[in-house]
Amino acid sequence: MDWKEYDRQLGIKTAGVKEWDGHRHYHGYEPTPYWALERLCQVYRFHPGDRVVDFGCGRGRVAFFLHHHFHVPVVGIEADAKTYEEALLNLRAYLRQAKHAPATITFEHGLAEKYQVDAADNRFYFFNPFSSLVFQKVMGNILKSVAAHPRTVDVILFYPMPGYTVVLEGLAFELVLEIELPEAQDPLDKFLIYRYPARRRGRVKDSDALVPATAVGLR
Ligand SMILES: C[S@@+](CC[C@H](N)C(=O)[O-])C[C@H]1O[C@@H](n2cnc3c(N)ncnc32)[C@H](O)[C@@H]1O
Repeated sequence: MDWKEYDRQLGIKTAGVKEWDGHRHYHGYEPTPYWALERLCQVYRFHPGDRVVDFGCGRGRVAFFLHHHFHVPVVGIEADAKTYEEALLNLRAYLRQAKHAPATITFEHGLAEKYQVDAADNRFYFFNPFSSLVFQKVMGNILKSVAAHPRTVDVILFYPMPGYTVVLEGLAFELVLEIELPEAQDPLDKFLIYRYPARRRGRVKDSDALVPATAVGLR
């Protein structure tokens, strides 16, 4: 299915790109391609107890897609006021036809690095929204929350910039899944999923969010 058909089915408008003028740490809007989200959902599972945060959610494509497929609550944080308004318009349109209303979708206008991480947040999505310096601050907030409320958290990177992976490895996150995409035009068109705390043999169940190992690069 192409993006127009996906947007139409979800009742939303998420196509297009938008530059972020004049800020060297913040990147502009571009949605994760639907073909990439389809592949992610074939090999990685979200569970009813999960709560997803999309840092730099843009017009909300990832939020709506995951809510629609997994019925999980999703929070989207967006710094650009106009883009945030577009996400809210999409939310109104989506909720008119959504059948999974018990799981919430919330959009917040603000900076990802100021977001107060909730004890329920455990899946964090990033499509290259900002510099690795800002990413490091966001990760610091996530780890403070994990120290206060111990839990397993996954960080899902689409288009993983080397600076992000250096930060995660420095914080002792473990790479648990790499999802390559057959449609990829660019070597960074892929997902990397990191987990914290790192698994220790015999302590974390294999079933924990990962679909049984396939030939997708499970490490
Ligand atoms: C590449 S887009 C990704 C959109 C969405 N996550 C997706 O995958 O479809 C990155 C978004 O991050 C937003 N952004 C940039 N810096 C931000 C910050 N510090 N806090 C929150 N959002 C930010 C941009 O306005 C843009 O909408």
